[in-house]
Amino acid sequence: VLRALLLALSTRRRIGDLMDRVPATRRLVRRFVAGPTADSALDVIARVNARGMAGAVTYLGENVTTPAQARAATAVYRDVVEAIAARGLRALPSLKLTHLGLDVSPAACATNVAEVAERCAAAGTRLWIDMESSAYTERTLELYERLHRTRPQTACVVQAALRRTPADVERLVGMGAALRVCKGAYREPADVAYPVKADVDAAYARLAERLLQPDAQARGVYAGYATHDEALIERVRATAAARGVSAERFEIQMLYGIRHDLHARLRHSGLGVRVLVPFGEDWYGYFMRRLAERPANLVFLLRNLVRPAAGGI
Ligand code: FDA
Repeated sequence: VLRALLLALSTRRRIGDLMDRVPATRRLVRRFVAGPTADSALDVIARVNARGMAGAVTYLGENVTTPAQARAATAVYRDVVEAIAARGLRALPSLKLTHLGLDVSPAACATNVAEVAERCAAAGTRLWIDMESSAYTERTLELYERLHRTRPQTACVVQAALRRTPADVERLVGMGAALRVCKGAYREPADVAYPVKADVDAAYARLAERLLQPDAQARGVYAGYATHDEALIERVRATAAARGVSAERFEIQMLYGIRHDLHARLRHSGLGVRVLVPFGEDWYGYFMRRLAERPANLVFLLRNLVRPAAGGI
């Protein structure tokens, strides 16, 4: 119930404007968001790289409503790709299509993404396209399929929670795609997504195994397993070992600020780990989805609201 409420609130931007003025919120946001600028994220990624892990950068923002906003986000991503190359970082951009204008004009959005993909190709970097709510799944996959023909280094995301995902995965395996498997962070109706978490976890395990099967590997499928769920990660590791899939053929992906202890432990155990680091001022939707995933984060926020830390801004 709490998760559903927080996810429902995550699309009410005016609440975000109010929260922005509350120091306790801003402090908690900083646990999940590197800072306002691309440099703040790239500084974090330099430290992540120094500890043997790869990075991904997300410029926070979604559902822009004008072509100018979409162009501005595109320009930021182009600069991010260049800054990654200039600083010699092991990192890639991970972006949302509605940030690059999918709601405004699908054609303009495709042009914007192609521009970022072109910069990525020139820099020898993969580009990852995030998956948003189920209202966007088909459009995202269609755009991805078209882009993949000319930019095969582009990767996409599937959500284990969605009932349609096994069929989507077959489509993507057939293309030899690179894909991230995540559980799914959006509020969805029960006919579209599994309402019970145990079913989502089981669906995730089945998808994880599918990508490690010989025919998928023979087609060049590359898997990013995005989860902080230790049991699932162990299952991925065991399946890959049993099938003889080398650690270069997949990676574990985690979010900045979540299970920091696990990042380093997995890396030391020989798995490839990528940490996704977001930056920017438009943190509200991202932050509310992180609260919805773990009610303890909300308790932390409320405790700080009623008992502000000494010297708080
Ligand atoms: P689960 O929710 O079962 O959590 C397992 C454990 O992780 C918890 O017990 C807790 O210890 C820790 N944990 C999880 N979330 C936490 C939080 N918010 N705060 C503190 N601890 C937490 N979704 C999507 O719809 N589209 C996308 O493109 C992406 N992209 C993406 C990239 C990366 C790198 C990651 C890691 C995740 C995503 N997601 C996503 C989000 C994903 O769908 C999912 O909501 C979260 O990863 C939480 O689910 P877990 O798999 O971690 O498992």
